[in-house]
Amino acid sequence: MVLQGLRRLEYRGYDSAGIAVVAEGELSSAKKAGKLANLEKVLADRPLPAATVGIGHTRWATHGGPTDRNAHPHVSTGGDVAVVHNGIIENFASLRAECEAAGIEFSSDTDTEVAAHLLTAAYADAPEGEGRLAEAMRAICRRLEGAFTLVATHAAEPDTLVAARRSSPLVVGVGETADGTAEYFLGSDVAAFIGHTRNALELGQDQIVQIDRTAGVTVTDFAGAAVEPTAYTVDWDAAAAEKGGYDWFMLKEIAEQPKAIADTLLGRLGDHGNLILDEVRLSDQELRDIDKIFVVSCGTSFHAGLIAKYAIEHWTRIPVEVEVASEFRYRDPVLDRSTLVIVISQSGETMDTLMALRHAKEQKARVLAICNANGSTIPRESDAVLYTHAGPEIAVASTKAFLSQIVACYLVGLFLAQVRGMKYEDEVAAIVEDLRKLPDAVAQVLTGMDEVRALGRSLADADTVLFLGRHVGFPVALEGALKLKELAYIHAEGFAAGELKHGPIAVIDQGTPVVVIVPSPHSRESVHGKVVSNIQEVRARGARTIVIAEEGDEDVVPYADHLIRVPRTPTLLAPVVTTVPLQVLACEIATTRGLDVDQPRNLAKSVTVE
Ligand code: G6P
Repeated sequence: MVLQGLRRLEYRGYDSAGIAVVAEGELSSAKKAGKLANLEKVLADRPLPAATVGIGHTRWATHGGPTDRNAHPHVSTGGDVAVVHNGIIENFASLRAECEAAGIEFSSDTDTEVAAHLLTAAYADAPEGEGRLAEAMRAICRRLEGAFTLVATHAAEPDTLVAARRSSPLVVGVGETADGTAEYFLGSDVAAFIGHTRNALELGQDQIVQIDRTAGVTVTDFAGAAVEPTAYTVDWDAAAAEKGGYDWFMLKEIAEQPKAIADTLLGRLGDHGNLILDEVRLSDQELRDIDKIFVVSCGTSFHAGLIAKYAIEHWTRIPVEVEVASEFRYRDPVLDRSTLVIVISQSGETMDTLMALRHAKEQKARVLAICNANGSTIPRESDAVLYTHAGPEIAVASTKAFLSQIVACYLVGLFLAQVRGMKYEDEVAAIVEDLRKLPDAVAQVLTGMDEVRALGRSLADADTVLFLGRHVGFPVALEGALKLKELAYIHAEGFAAGELKHGPIAVIDQGTPVVVIVPSPHSRESVHGKVVSNIQEVRARGARTIVIAEEGDEDVVPYADHLIRVPRTPTLLAPVVTTVPLQVLACEIATTRGLDVDQPRNLAKSVTVE
């Protein structure tokens, strides 16, 4: 059961794995560098005893390389305590020195191992009887700095599991076995136990949960005060997280994009073209008072933010700044009560984004989260949330969540324009009509992908691929390049096409593939002609041009070595359709190179450390 749970969390990215069980007063564990298959081989040679309490972990190396000895669980010297940990214990060096001074020898290079040793000592000091392991966990958590989720077992407590959470994700699942016995789960996200139960409990910051065979679930804060956890039902089922006949989760997720967008729009568009955003808990007055917007996020979610800027500024006339979360929080941005900070996160757990949101709240800014994972930390700590209903995204690199984030940003922009009276009702209604057409447009793009795949196969040996775009096509170029880096490990760069002559054009050599995202010839911004010139400029210098252009755009035909057609879409909404061929292209190139599309090397789905 533990291995199965780890399998369901594989998508988060990892480089070693391990499990531990408590049976008949003894703790046994196994761990191995590499994928879960390696751990399974170890377990096949040396099976662990049957048990009803077990913990497991997939590790993404931070302190210490991805080796067998650094894999979790970490076991205390006497072999009584096993600990798994996500996050980083920032004061581990001084704690380690303290343990070493007390004669403890360390058997790994991790920050985690200190927790195992400290917990053993704290357990010895804690009063005997019920709740002893939880008391020990509270004692050590009061000393730990940084962000962490810890789960611990003790050989002397075969009926108990204890976990702690500060800033890293942890959810509790409450289920029943076939014969009606209660069963409990802990996981970094609900995917770990979704095959067993859809009933979950949310834990807050700085809380300890004890799971006991008879007493069930008890939650306290680090000081020991009882806390009532919030129960919720997970609306994803196990099938939604299966591959459903596709070779890769990513292929399935790319195919699900029309539905992801449609579901994100669902229930939010009123009959009269107006917008209904119930989860935005900011009052109309607060929305009217906003004089500046920051959009803050990481990775692919950052690219959704870049696209949001064009739409929100155009529709609302409010200035919008877009920034990666890791920069935002350290540069002392100017924020106050009338600033709206929009944080975008698929997982809702990205550490940099979470810290940026906390910083914004400290500065009294209003925070609106656009998030895909229900009940995750980022929406919980935000003033308002707009969920993208993309369903579970398992492949490490984001696809369907990205398109639904863009759509959610459009909704926010239109909503603000509506509340602030920047657009007449019929104008909002017209854009809403355009939004409603997006799922079909994406479906149409997806039906014509055979040529893109053939093109992908021919690009498998490329060293460098450049992506060019203007206006909203620029963030699409960045996302196309990011996908290629993530999936195929090919060097790729996205550029604003207007910057071409300021440097990038020097990189172009005979045969260099250059992907150009061409704006609609009908766009009011009239950048179309300029981009067509850019295609000619790179082609004249030997580039192999791959052109993504609207149906009916004949101007590009003479200069396109490969032409990928997308349906006519209003300029601001075009990224939703032009991104799709770039996802398929990266996926096909990676597959041709024999790579793991769902779990690229070195990457994690949710980066829960800084
Ligand atoms: C990681 C993932 C990316 C994702 C980024 C932000 O880097 O591999 O696919 O875009 O994190 O994640 P978030 O969950 O905050 O959107």
